[in-house]
Amino acid sequence: LRTAVLISGRGSNMAALLEAAANPDYPAEIALVLSNREDAAGLDHARSRGVPTAVVESRVFGRDRDAFERALEGEVRGHGVELLALAGFMRVLTAGFVARWQDRLVNIHPSLLPAFPGLDTHARALAAGVKLHGCTVHLVRAGVDDGPILAQAAVPVLPDDTEADLAARVLAEEHRLYPAALAWLAAGLVQVEEAVARIAAPSA
Ligand code: GRF
Repeated sequence: LRTAVLISGRGSNMAALLEAAANPDYPAEIALVLSNREDAAGLDHARSRGVPTAVVESRVFGRDRDAFERALEGEVRGHGVELLALAGFMRVLTAGFVARWQDRLVNIHPSLLPAFPGLDTHARALAAGVKLHGCTVHLVRAGVDDGPILAQAAVPVLPDDTEADLAARVLAEEHRLYPAALAWLAAGLVQVEEAVARIAAPSA
């Protein structure tokens, strides 16, 4: 399935997806890496791997989110993309956009949702004193960091953890989890019933 990865920055999750998709048996083909910022470091990595890239600068659209999304959709449709994977994409998408891409739009979030939606998840996990933290891959719905959960990975929070320690431990799991979850979605193994996604066992 032709897939676009949407980034705003570093792009380490995007790099993990590109790595997985380099395997010819992987069910998603990364046909495009799109950034809403020209200076996103991940763009250089994608280019170095020979993956088509596009930039739709959200800044130039100001508060006109519909115009931004129309430009973005023009790019993804122009590349024949059927699936969108958000990977550190720092723009909230409108309800209309999310509805048009229902169940074909997936995100990774650095917490065990529904705990800690939004920003600064690692600092908030430390402040709350949780003993388990992690990451979530979920289908996107109109709320921020909301939608049917495809997969989660948990890590321990250790007594002397700094925010950076915890972020690094979670990020290593993100890089394993996201390629697996995207593969299930692209292979058609995900069934969604209301708020719950179920993953079917792959046929032998
Ligand atoms: C990741 O922690 C991701 O879960 C969050 O933003 C971060 C992006 O990192 N949504 P990268 O750009 O993939 O390195």
